Amino acid sequence: MSNIVDLRSDTVTLPSNEMRDAIANAKLGDDVFCEDPTINDLEAKAAKIMGKESGLLVPSGTMGNLVSILVHCQRGTEIILGDKAHTFIYESGGISAFGGIHSRQLHNQPDGTINARDIKSAIRMDNVHFPKTSAITLENTHNLCNGSPLSPEYIGHVAQIAHNNDMKLHIDGARIFNAAVALNVNVKNLVTNVDSVTFCLSKGLASPVGSIVCGNEEFIYHARRIRKALGGGMRQAGIIAAAGIISLDKMVDQIQEDHKNAKRLAEGISNIEGLSIDKGNIKSNILYFNIDKDRGRNEDLAQQTKDLALYPFEIVLDNIHFFETRPNTFRLVTHYGISDDDIEKTLMMLKDICK
Ligand SMILES: Cc1ncc(COP(=O)(O)O)c(C=O)c1O
Repeated sequence: MSNIVDLRSDTVTLPSNEMRDAIANAKLGDDVFCEDPTINDLEAKAAKIMGKESGLLVPSGTMGNLVSILVHCQRGTEIILGDKAHTFIYESGGISAFGGIHSRQLHNQPDGTINARDIKSAIRMDNVHFPKTSAITLENTHNLCNGSPLSPEYIGHVAQIAHNNDMKLHIDGARIFNAAVALNVNVKNLVTNVDSVTFCLSKGLASPVGSIVCGNEEFIYHARRIRKALGGGMRQAGIIAAAGIISLDKMVDQIQEDHKNAKRLAEGISNIEGLSIDKGNIKSNILYFNIDKDRGRNEDLAQQTKDLALYPFEIVLDNIHFFETRPNTFRLVTHYGISDDDIEKTLMMLKDICK
């Protein structure tokens, strides 16, 4: 058993023993022929949970977002997204590289929303000079905005704006179960009027690989073809789906624990002199804190963060891994695999990071 405490991301989770057994015993077939029974079960289960007609297993959240946006947007059209959206910042520009889609980035508020007025005024009029605005994407929870959940009311409002303007709404719900837990709502309510949603099995839900895209049958028909074109047809990927089924059946409860752990960390950090955190604003499993500007760093931390040009920095102190995401701002992410002891150990370590 490793004694590393890895708070860099919830993507680092390892599969439970139950998942490993399910993987070993999964019934398999060729999924490009739609013949893998475990994948078919997982996709049907996911669609039901999301209240959508159909689902599709994809290798990653990045591919889920790309496939969805490629279905919704023709080449040369425009998509509205937040300036802190994962799709805009961290997905290698795939929507423009592979889809020829123009991105219009609007300011993300600290709570992850995009102001509805900004959205309305960004929608292009029908004029030969402009690309057609074909879709909007929102992120829930919002990774770079403190892991904030977006409410069903806000999402419903944006869906209405989209549909009134002949546009589609896609949700990057990599952590949509964290949003549902944070808001104490059924996850269905977070996607009621949306055209598509991607969610990750491999983050808070602790599967080793995989994401799911859900939408209506016609959307999934096109998404399946685009997944194949992108090289995402995975044949006997029931071994992935087997873990995914356990994620959906058993791991949603774990998210409650992850959120409690994030709050415990925030509470502890708020009592450490030299560190600051908005502890009332910890909504899910992602938390950011700062070293006060006039405090020095202890030697070990200073040593690891000498080159101020290269963010994010991976920091390793006392075998605890986390990121400095911008000058003086650090991120911790709780997940399956982080124990009560790990929280205590982390707080002990953080007591030491200022000079
Ligand atoms: C909000 C969000 N969307 C999408 C992704 C992409 O997921 P993947 O790493 O499976 O491609 C991530 C990954 O961290 C994410 O945080």
